[in-house]
Amino acid sequence: MMRLGCCYYPEHWPEEIWADDARRMVEMGLTRVRIGEFAWSRIEPQPWRYDWGWLDRAIDTLHAAGLGIILGTPTATPPKWLVNKMPDMLAIDAQGQERRFGSRRHYCFSHLGYRGECARITAALAERYGNHPGIVAWQTDNEYGCHDTIVSYSESAAQGFRRWLERQYQDVAALNTAWGNVFWSQEYRSFAEIDPPHLTVTEPNPAHVLDYRRFASDEVVTFNRLQVDLLRSGSPGRDIVHNYMGFFTEFDHHAVSRDLDVATWDSYPIGFLEQFWFGRDDKLRYARQGHPDIAAFHHDLYRGCAKGRWWVMEQQPGPVNWAAHNPAPLPGMVRLWTLEAAAHGAELVSYFRWRQAPFAQEMHHAGLLRPDSIDDVGAHEARAAAGDLAVLGDLGPPPKSVALLFSYEAAWMFEAQPQGRSFRYMELVFAFYSALRQLGLDVDILPSSAPLDGYKLVVAPSLPILDPALTERLTGLGVPVLFGPRSGSRTRDFQIPEGLPPGPLRDVLPITIPRVESLREGLVEQGDGFTVARWFEHVETALEPEIAVQDGRGIVYRQGPLRYLAGWPDAALLERLLSMMASESGVAVTTLPCDIRLRRAGDMTFAFNYGPEPVDITDFVGAPLIIGDRLLPSTGVAAWRD
Ligand code: GAL
Repeated sequence: MMRLGCCYYPEHWPEEIWADDARRMVEMGLTRVRIGEFAWSRIEPQPWRYDWGWLDRAIDTLHAAGLGIILGTPTATPPKWLVNKMPDMLAIDAQGQERRFGSRRHYCFSHLGYRGECARITAALAERYGNHPGIVAWQTDNEYGCHDTIVSYSESAAQGFRRWLERQYQDVAALNTAWGNVFWSQEYRSFAEIDPPHLTVTEPNPAHVLDYRRFASDEVVTFNRLQVDLLRSGSPGRDIVHNYMGFFTEFDHHAVSRDLDVATWDSYPIGFLEQFWFGRDDKLRYARQGHPDIAAFHHDLYRGCAKGRWWVMEQQPGPVNWAAHNPAPLPGMVRLWTLEAAAHGAELVSYFRWRQAPFAQEMHHAGLLRPDSIDDVGAHEARAAAGDLAVLGDLGPPPKSVALLFSYEAAWMFEAQPQGRSFRYMELVFAFYSALRQLGLDVDILPSSAPLDGYKLVVAPSLPILDPALTERLTGLGVPVLFGPRSGSRTRDFQIPEGLPPGPLRDVLPITIPRVESLREGLVEQGDGFTVARWFEHVETALEPEIAVQDGRGIVYRQGPLRYLAGWPDAALLERLLSMMASESGVAVTTLPCDIRLRRAGDMTFAFNYGPEPVDITDFVGAPLIIGDRLLPSTGVAAWRD
């Protein structure tokens, strides 16, 4: 059964209240507590002089209350003395400015001296607590990339990049050819001549940028692996996890997750709605709930990262402090988010944070408790969710229905060369996801390397690099497969493929794309009941289009089970196309009211109401309800066994 937990900072509170805090956590139904991830200055107040006493007592107190502890390595917050010792460990931003001490994440992933310090503190923690019976898991660092911290242009990064390039290409002539450096006399005579791609007069070569992004992502992988290896040997049998963020593509989470036992993520649906691309209507309608697909999207994305094991490490328990506006969740939302995570297969939901801090940057961020220690709304809802989870009991495994193929590299490529300002990969993927969820479908978001047997439908919103082995594998599945715009449009070296896009897909779906257009807002191609905006591709083929715009030019082409979508679809086109594919593959679709979402777990189906009004769900409910009502109130959750 899914567990509940919270994030706790014993170093923020007098020691006298720790035992009572722990007791109240258990009374609330929590069994896990995460601590330690920002406590470096208290663990090691002076170089090499550790102060373990307080942490020993905190761990013992929490453990004695019956809580399992997730201990974080504190490497997101190097203390001032360490920064003073090696000032060049700071990251440098794209404008060449140092990112200084005074908040957090002030380090460059490529600084070898800082890596050494991270290894030292991690090894010291593992040695001290690795076999403590209260420690059930370790979290490496905290939110890699938070506050835009993946790509750094420091001297350490430049040196690391040159070594990385040399390993990739061996010979600088091969790099010059791959990047097309004959263009504008960009040729290099040695790897030592190559700088990071920033501060150039106009845009740098996109191939150079893409390799820099690949390098920066690999730096996160090796930075994380250093800690994982030390924790594995020093603390056997414990899960090792990292907490990922929302709508974040700066590094390859699939690659980092290969070293982890569990992928976890930090769920702030209301902050994400406010911060990202959603339109004004959605921002108002869902201001106090978050868009109905935000939490689910990330649940389904991170479930695909570490062989299906995933947690919510931080769950918003009330208003946050960091978005442009920070409304409070509607009463019931904290419970809804918790149960929704369970329905998507989470093993743990842990609330951030136990008690609201009365000081420093996050004093406006709610906790389960108010700063005066009175239960806040989140505490009541966590208790209610604990009760519901007990009623629901063990949930079965997530069904295999639709696979959505996701690529971090695709996001980097479209950022390196957008060609149209509004072509944003994450937004495209989210539009596909949302359309599938609106049809009542269960989605697994997977890397294209994942085994796809058993899925009934596969959609790839865009895979710019396609290799023949992948297209062959997808064709061989024998189920409907959809490729979105710009699929097959580049080689691994960021060049236009020979024979033009969609590259190797042309062997199995005979179309050629000689020209693409990006469209400013308001400039659209009109179809019958739909519009294509932002992006439109011209297609040469002997095939008849399956769907065309009004002047007869094709927007969807099909050969056997494969389809290509030659533009940026609106919701109506996606609904039409995905319903067609679902009916071919025999998957039942249910067109849902806009605020309702369904999710299956084993033989259980859940319904969630994200809207401000009650919705009658009688039409979707096949059996007596275990929790909830057929007239599902705003923020209501219902569950039944099919
Ligand atoms: C997360 C972070 C936490 C806290 C929280 C506030 O991004 O991991 O430490 O800052 O946001 O919402």
